[in-house]
Amino acid sequence: MPEIKFYNRKPVPVEMHKVKIVQKLNLLPAEERLKKIEEAGYNSFQLHNIDIFMDMLTDSGVNAMSDLQQAAFLKADDAYAGSESFYRMERKLQELFGMDYCLPAHQGRACENVLALRFVNNPGNVVIMNYHFTTAKAHITRLGGRVEELVIDEGLKTESDLPFKGNIDLDKLEACIQKETPENIAYLRLETGTNLIGGQPISYENMKAATDICKKYGIPTVMDASLLQDNLYFIKIREESMKDKTIKEINRMCADLFDIVYFSGRKYGFARGGAILVRDEEMFHSMEDMIPMFEGFLTYGGMSVKEIEAMTVGFDETMDMDVISQGPQFIKYVVDELHEYGIPVITPGGGLGAHVDARQVLAHVPQEEYPAGALTCAMYLCGGIRPMERGTLSEERNPDGSERIASMELIRLALPRRVFTLSQCEYVIDRVKWVWDHRDLIGGLRFVHEPKTLRFFTGRLEPTSDWPRKLVDAYKADFGEDQ
Ligand code: F0G
Repeated sequence: MPEIKFYNRKPVPVEMHKVKIVQKLNLLPAEERLKKIEEAGYNSFQLHNIDIFMDMLTDSGVNAMSDLQQAAFLKADDAYAGSESFYRMERKLQELFGMDYCLPAHQGRACENVLALRFVNNPGNVVIMNYHFTTAKAHITRLGGRVEELVIDEGLKTESDLPFKGNIDLDKLEACIQKETPENIAYLRLETGTNLIGGQPISYENMKAATDICKKYGIPTVMDASLLQDNLYFIKIREESMKDKTIKEINRMCADLFDIVYFSGRKYGFARGGAILVRDEEMFHSMEDMIPMFEGFLTYGGMSVKEIEAMTVGFDETMDMDVISQGPQFIKYVVDELHEYGIPVITPGGGLGAHVDARQVLAHVPQEEYPAGALTCAMYLCGGIRPMERGTLSEERNPDGSERIASMELIRLALPRRVFTLSQCEYVIDRVKWVWDHRDLIGGLRFVHEPKTLRFFTGRLEPTSDWPRKLVDAYKADFGEDQ
């Protein structure tokens, strides 16, 4: 379906679905939000959902399901071993990805655990990526492995009009393999749809060139397909040579390049689960034992069979341009509005959500004081919006205890698919503009409790001054006591 045109030519994205079930929202007044964020240790992961108006933390497991997905719940075949629900999912994945073997897992990071245990065998083993994802990296470094990120330089620039900022630099890839030696490289992991650098896609052509190089050296190739649904859309509309292919054909062409595909079914498939797909039988057997050990029996892998059924329908829906275009079109709308106002935002709009560059917004806050963390809290105080910090706070410290400064310091306003309406997006745009105009009032954060691993999930922080009070006072002066 092409974009619906308006008589007045306004570029408004129109939903190709209607709402059947809704959840009531709660907008606390700013004064109460100040109490809630204090209680949450200035960490948006620690907020209770009931205290949030617009939950834009993530799209993980919170996309709206379709009527057909929910109807599929009723087909779920409860069995510890041999569930027909699993075989239905396996057949669908074989059809879409062309790989014979499927290892189910409860979510994406569980797949990452199994892959790291299988391939990172010696300390110092390297996993090459276009860009890392937090959990993918944590599993590798826990085992003594190292991650090399070789995204193209342009990928780390805030503003650009390059269509595929998630591409891997092919010269750097070749040089890295030479330097590290092929034997020391555990695998290539391409994130098809990058997460931490603004949901920027990777082109088919780049995936092909990178996997060809690795094949030459006998290095296993792994696709993280968690964000593939957005990436398929971008390949279709931005890659000239692919514009006449169907989404299903593009999906298969991408998969054909890799030895292994894994995904978070909380994203790809619009339900809750995950799986590793393997082309080679021996490679499959080398990982098989870990599934019953860590996840569950091989025909459910820790997932509810209801979710397996819903995911299977979700895979088919992912092949539908009407379904997968809604996210990127809404994101583009939000990104373009913020950009036009002069707010530093990642351009072009990518998948997953709109990403604001906190390093530029809060140029007066050093990265050691977590500007993206502070801006996340400011968005909650000024509108009840919960973004996710994607910057230095999401990194882990260097072995010598020094801060690892993130190369991008972003807040992510995720747009779970089919969840928010355009008027709710307008509200978010409005509040981001207000925060931008009052950015001088925002200060930094420091840890009061800092976990060693994945500290952003459970860490507790405090403001470096009384800036939250001042910000709330300014907000109340503009919007009144009840907002
Ligand atoms: N890979 C990518 C690219 C992801 O975005 C995620 C999750 C995972 C792997 C891990 O999957 O959550 O099912 O264990 N991203 C979520 C997010 C958490 O909010 O972006 P999971």
